[in-house]
Amino acid sequence: MSKKAGSHPADGGNRAASDFVVPRSVAVIMDGNGRWARSAGFERIRGHEKGTDSVRTTVTECAQLGVEALTLYAFSEENWERPKREINLLMGLLRRFLVDERPTLMQNNVRLLHAGRRQRLDSDILRLLDETMALTADNSGMRLCLAISYGGRQELADAVRSIAREVAAGSLAPEAVDEATISARLYQPTLPDPDLLIRTAGELRVSNFLLWQISYAEIHVSPVCWPDFGKEQLHEAFRDYGRRVRKFGKVHG
Ligand code: FPP
Repeated sequence: MSKKAGSHPADGGNRAASDFVVPRSVAVIMDGNGRWARSAGFERIRGHEKGTDSVRTTVTECAQLGVEALTLYAFSEENWERPKREINLLMGLLRRFLVDERPTLMQNNVRLLHAGRRQRLDSDILRLLDETMALTADNSGMRLCLAISYGGRQELADAVRSIAREVAAGSLAPEAVDEATISARLYQPTLPDPDLLIRTAGELRVSNFLLWQISYAEIHVSPVCWPDFGKEQLHEAFRDYGRRVRKFGKVHG
């Protein structure tokens, strides 16, 4: 496939073929690990394990195609309500990913970031996250943001709390609070809003993911479960995106 640079009519993405547009910013709800495992006769965790391969493929391909920011929904605030065993196994996969993927991140010039609350994460996960973020901090290519212990409503509540504190301290006037004030207090304020939100396993929900940031995202729902999501499905999402006419609430043309 050609990777010739060009522009999406509306958002400045990289055009690689007539209907294949590489978005500047992509977010993914990686769903269907459990269903994939059940349908193959395995326990749920096997789906998460296999899903880690799809994470690697997606990160590498997005970086190589020139995506600027990729945000992956790896563990939601609501996922803390899952059985303890599944949580421990998911945390184990995250630990392993944060160590094993360092060479791949470095080779692909990817910078790692985290979005989410740190309070409930084990200290060793935080240490591995911090180490990998520090190791990759000078990489100038794609930014990979892992949403871990993340919730969109919680992110907005945290932003509102920090604004309330500044107003109470007298450093921010209530009249000065606008959209930029809120955007600047999100977990990763410098990441561009997603142009494309991909969800796998056919579900038509946003599940508390990036509620503020996806206001104008195009949504692509892939029928395949996340462990079966590979380059072909990613390219299909980018082709679907390339066919969209983005108006941002205005009149097109
Ligand atoms: C949703 O599938 C998926 C998750 C809750 C976790 C996603 C985790 C991974 C892909 C692996 C670890 C991540 C990284 C970054 C190393 P589900 O369990 O809700 O599936 P179901 O709806 O079919 O039950």
